[in-house]
Amino acid sequence: MKSLWYIPVFVISIALFIEVGGVDRTNFKSCDQSSFCRRYRAMKKGESPYQLLLNTVKEGESDLQISLMNIKNAIHFTLKLTALENHNFRLQIDEAQPIKERYKVDFALNGEPPTRKLEVTERTAESITVANGPNKAVLHASPFKIDLYSGKRLAISLNAQGLFKFEHYRQKTNIPAPAEGEEAVEAPQPVDDVESDIGAWEENFKSHHDQKPHGPSAVGMDFSFPNADYAYGIPEHADTLALKNTGTTDPYRLYNLDVFEYELNNPMALYGSIPFLIAHGTEGTAGVLWLNAAETWVDIEGGAHKEGNVVSSIVNFVSGSGTPQPPLEARFVSESGVVDAFLFLGPNPQDVSKHYAEITGVTPLPPLFSLGYHQCRWNYNDEDDVKGVDAGFDTHDIPYDVIWLDIEYTEGKKYFTWDRIKFPHPGDMMKNLSLKGHHMVVIIDPHIKREGGYFVHEDATSNGYYVKNKDGNDYEGWCWPGSSGYLDFFNPVVRDYWASKFSLDNFPGTTLDTHIWNDMNEPSVFNGPEITMPKDCVHHGGWEHRDVHNLYGLTHVMSTYDGLLKRSQGKLRPFILTRSFFVGSQRFASVWTGDNMAEWDHLKASIPMCLSISLAGMPFCGADIGGFFKNPDSELFYRWYQAGAFLPFMRGHAHIDTKRREPWVYDQETTLLVRSAVRKRYELLPYWYTLFRQHETGGLPIMRPIWYNYPKEKATFTIEDEFMLGNELLIHPVTQSGATDVSVYFPGEKDLWYDLDALELFSGHGTKTVQVPKEKIPVYQRGGTIIPKKMRVRRSSALTKDDPYTLQVALNADGLATGSLYIDDGESFDYQNGQFTSLNYFYDGTTMVSKLGDKNGNFVTKSWLERIIVMGIKKAPSRIVLKSPSLGEQELESTFSPNKHLLVIRKPAVPITEEWKIFFH
Ligand code: NOJ
Repeated sequence: MKSLWYIPVFVISIALFIEVGGVDRTNFKSCDQSSFCRRYRAMKKGESPYQLLLNTVKEGESDLQISLMNIKNAIHFTLKLTALENHNFRLQIDEAQPIKERYKVDFALNGEPPTRKLEVTERTAESITVANGPNKAVLHASPFKIDLYSGKRLAISLNAQGLFKFEHYRQKTNIPAPAEGEEAVEAPQPVDDVESDIGAWEENFKSHHDQKPHGPSAVGMDFSFPNADYAYGIPEHADTLALKNTGTTDPYRLYNLDVFEYELNNPMALYGSIPFLIAHGTEGTAGVLWLNAAETWVDIEGGAHKEGNVVSSIVNFVSGSGTPQPPLEARFVSESGVVDAFLFLGPNPQDVSKHYAEITGVTPLPPLFSLGYHQCRWNYNDEDDVKGVDAGFDTHDIPYDVIWLDIEYTEGKKYFTWDRIKFPHPGDMMKNLSLKGHHMVVIIDPHIKREGGYFVHEDATSNGYYVKNKDGNDYEGWCWPGSSGYLDFFNPVVRDYWASKFSLDNFPGTTLDTHIWNDMNEPSVFNGPEITMPKDCVHHGGWEHRDVHNLYGLTHVMSTYDGLLKRSQGKLRPFILTRSFFVGSQRFASVWTGDNMAEWDHLKASIPMCLSISLAGMPFCGADIGGFFKNPDSELFYRWYQAGAFLPFMRGHAHIDTKRREPWVYDQETTLLVRSAVRKRYELLPYWYTLFRQHETGGLPIMRPIWYNYPKEKATFTIEDEFMLGNELLIHPVTQSGATDVSVYFPGEKDLWYDLDALELFSGHGTKTVQVPKEKIPVYQRGGTIIPKKMRVRRSSALTKDDPYTLQVALNADGLATGSLYIDDGESFDYQNGQFTSLNYFYDGTTMVSKLGDKNGNFVTKSWLERIIVMGIKKAPSRIVLKSPSLGEQELESTFSPNKHLLVIRKPAVPITEEWKIFFH
């Protein structure tokens, strides 16, 4: 028998690992320092004191309402279960008679979620069963539990562990000290654990005092996924894609924070929060959206994950793994608000994403330029610097679309102003950029310099637009400008005011080609508790910051988006980058992973971080290329460009103290490597654009974990060093210093994978070693797909407008392929009125067909079809004949490489928007 001597060694080494790192952890709370998290974690499983009172059931058209009682203190709650469209459920629990209204999340949902008829199908003395199409919910009275079935399969159980807890609002009982000679009043029996917790009514953290005027109010619930292996999502964390078990660490924390020099591989909170978790196993996928904007902690237990679950992994090891896998469990607990959980029953990952997107919204089709390369640095110093960088791209023949200005362009960090010495002619600078089809993004943060005479501050002060402190005065915090006020975007009047500031008149120097970066919107407050706003600050409507914290960044970008939209009278698509985010932020902004470091591990981490954000409904994600802090060496620099070229948002950015690092500042070889990576990005812009349109119409992520497309393939469940774009491309970036080869997993038993550089078949199913000389980016096209490209090198995406297209066909084992292309003007909303073309392509060995995907589209373009590349073709056709309305019947020229099985058809020359057929004889 194996001995267990190594248990303490293992535990100690985990502890040591956790302690090492750059972040100052003393600035941020651990679960133990957060009273409600501590209370929740101290709960024992299986002791749920809650009971459903089945005799109180009220049936509505699409919902059921029942009283729920805590039998320990007789506090009543109202439980509402609603049947949602697509056969999902929503569970809401609130106090029946609260002494104060509890906050319900605003802004996050994309309108009122559509509902369906809910049918009661069975009642017993202990339970009630309701059906929503093929799915059902069984509500058990005592102990309180809800089982949700996807068809016949139990997909999610709520409160199966008995960890549901709802702390009702209460009056603080102050027992006066007895006067001399009087007898002490006997303290009333505590009604729950809350009353004996010293942190329940007020809490200190470092020098900060949280006065908690409304007392304890946490809500928590456990969700079990009996057949799932792993949980994913709940960004933002610098951690693995498959969430780890939190048995030996803190829970994953969701509390939007500006974490200086954040550390990898831990569950600490970061800039954004999306409390949406996906549980997946070979038998199905399910999702839970825990709609709560207060500080939230999520514990993960069970499932197939061994790491972090010391006891079970050792038991399995010792016992030869005979023990059945414990059910995967996720436990959410939030400091305030109500229980509002959306339960998505799948059964496929695609169903979960699609239904989540229907409720929370999608990213609207971005302007084409924003899919190009963005050049940023803190800071481009002045107009000459901007001119020089712009010229550098021309000199080195590297395409780019956007140059960015960080905070130093403003006059004294006063947003909507320009430093008049460094940027005396911003309008001219902007126009010069536009001449070559370039755009500019400038930063606008939410903190406002408290300086007499600064118009935003004057307006905010006189109109009461700032968030208030607990005493009702304007809250004053410290940020880039020094003393700052924070606009209260929860107030619709403030949002309108803010939006109006983006008009071309109100922000002189900007043009319609200027777009916006909303940073520091957690909000970041340098002297606040945990570098953010105190929880007892007060927002519009009287809500405490505690209730709404994670929504602040969302309200900020909502308002900015509205401003940019109004600026062009609703004609042009805005582009916004945000650092902080919540459920629904995808409707307004793209996102990046904040202040990473010029280290290989940070490059590696950008993949799981963006995958988690994508799974949580925000597809437009990227990471600072090169790393924000520190200076990358040339190898890290070009490898980062190679990886970044295949993430949805591609921007180089660097801290003010770093060395200059425009693509050409290293040696010539590095410049050429970076150039080649950026050019690859530009070749594929038509494909990226089509992917974004597919996201807008279908709600699926663009960047996907491998398991998402191969949900039955267990070997893929923890892969996070490679990913897919749509269904077509598999990317395995090089993220290791000095790597000469990488090990690529090719999924799909029957799938074939074609090398994007060699244009030939590389592999079938399984793991293969790929040589990665400096210029190599391992990217593979799946057999069975067709992707659109534009091959001409230009200075910006705008200049490729009329360029011809190439279609790249990769055949599957049956010699078939399909694909699509979406085109419009790339900048306006005219596509919503028919100014677009969407095409589907089919190849079956004897013919290739172009068919309109939507007959209503009528976009006019000069673009035409320049080339068709067919990979995996067995033998050369003797004749290739095109038939199209504009060109009639024509024989086409081609070349065939028998070794590569590659056919290149030259110049079909049909207008790209036309339907046509090509016959292979
Ligand atoms: C913090 C952001 O994360 C970083 O990207 C930016 O450069 C600085 N703020 C200065 O604005």
